[in-house]
Parts: sequence; structure tokens; C-alpha cells
Amino acid sequence: MKGVILAGGLGSRLLPLTKITNKHLLPIYDRPMVYFPLQTLADAGIRDILLVTGGNNAGDFLRLLENGEEFGCTLRYAYQRGEGGIAAALRLAQPFAGSDDIAVLLGDNIFQNGISSAAREFDQQGGGARVLLKEVSDPTRFGVPTIENGRIVHIAEKPRQPASHFAVTGCYFYDASVFEKIERCRPSNRKELEITDVNNLYLAEQHLHHSLVDGWWSDAGTFESLHRVSVLVEAMVHDASHTMAAVSGR
Ligand code: DAU
Repeated sequence: MKGVILAGGLGSRLLPLTKITNKHLLPIYDRPMVYFPLQTLADAGIRDILLVTGGNNAGDFLRLLENGEEFGCTLRYAYQRGEGGIAAALRLAQPFAGSDDIAVLLGDNIFQNGISSAAREFDQQGGGARVLLKEVSDPTRFGVPTIENGRIVHIAEKPRQPASHFAVTGCYFYDASVFEKIERCRPSNRKELEITDVNNLYLAEQHLHHSLVDGWWSDAGTFESLHRVSVLVEAMVHDASHTMAAVSGR
């Protein structure tokens, strides 16, 4: 399986922080945001990775990440013109993906315990797609599933009246038919090609499955979530250093 990180878009909800840099280069506690999806894919054993970005700061990703050696990955890059939506950014990954399955991570999504178990579940399901769900207090900010008899039957993008308390997180596993599905999508009211429409096309074929996120999950696309996730990461870093100290007897 190959990996795709989507780090384009204008980050307009974080202005003025994003006036002179890309959202995914902003710090989350002690490291740039883009380190998280990269580490998450590497930890899941996915080491052939495409990073899609855009805007005026695309070259900064090359300077920061080079060819991915620091993460034990082979990193390639694609450039998205403008802000046509998540599915428009993903479309640029077609030549890279070829006929392989892909794990797609939104560049501003952080998963405390990674995505390895969901990646294994996707491997076993034999094609189609898999999304990760997490229960949230503010579902209107996200893609929200309607769930019947334990199965997703529909996903609504930022619904005013959410059908459940779950968010579809920014981690998606797809087979190679994803690109043909993107071609069938049309721009939404916000003039973007929506990843939710792609997922609903898989649902129509009954080929969309889901896993639940283990541990905490957050995006970092608003001031509140950027701050919250920095605090969560700080706690995680401190816990890890305390555990290391205990193990080594210091
Ligand atoms: O965080 C999970 C949510 O992400 C999902 O629940 C939603 O269904 C999904 O639409 C998305 O919602 P957002 O409104 O939060 O997406 P946003 O526009 O903030 O974009 C998320 C990431 O996708 C961003 O960090 C970079 C990438 N992106 C986005 C756009 C619009 C691109 O690479 N290119 C783009 O044109």
C-alpha cells in the first residue's frame, strides 16, 4: 500500500497565521504539523509516500523533509493549483498510485495511536474503501455518518442537523477505483470536490467499511483545535519521556 498526504489548501480559518506560510508547517508543540501524518504512515509500515501541497510555500516542504530519509520513507511531491478541495488534491495522486491501494491522510489530522490496525483491517477486506470514525462533541464541523445496524448508510458533509455524534476523520483507505469515482464528482456549494462525495460513491456500491479510532484524534485547522492538539501532544511527549526514564531507571 502507498501513502498520500494532502497538505494543500489555503488554511484560511487560521489567518493571519497562514498568511506567509502553509498551515501544515505551523508548529504542533515541538514539531511542524506535517511530521505527524508522515510519522503515522511510516509507523503503519507505509513508506512510499506522496505529499500534495500548493501555494507559495511548497518549496519549504522540500527543504524541511527532503526525500523523507528522516522518517525512513521515500517521499515524492505533487503541486495543487488553487484550492479545489480534498478530492481535487487526491486526483493528483493517480500517476503515483497506479493500480495500488492507497492510505490517504489529511495533513492536519493527528491520531494518538496511529492507523496501523485500520490499515490491517483494510488489507483483509479485499478492495473497496475504509474510513475511520471518532465520536465528537461538535459533529457539525465534519463529515457525519448515518449509521444503521452497525453500518454506515450515508455521509453528510458538515450537516446542520447531524445524524450521529461521529466524525469521519481525515484517514481514508481506497482501492484504485477511487480515481474513477473522483471523475464522477461535481463541485459542491463551497466549490470544492468533496471527499465525502467520493465516500458516498463507495457506499452506493456497498464497498465502504469503517473502523473506530483508538485513542484521541483531532484536526488542527482552527485556532481552538490547533491549541487543543498542541496540549495533547505535549502531554504525550512528556508521558513518553517519563516512561523512558522509568524503563532506564533514571
Ligand atoms: O478533519 C476531518 C474533516 O476534514 C472531515 O470530517 C471532512 O469530511 C472533510 O471534508 C475535511 O473537512 P475540513 O473542512 O476540515 O477540510 P479542510 O478544508 O480543512 O481540509 C483538510 C485538509 O485537506 C487540509 O489540511 C489540506 C487538505 N486539502 C484541503 C483542500 C480544501 C488539500 O490538500 N487541498 C484542498 O484544496
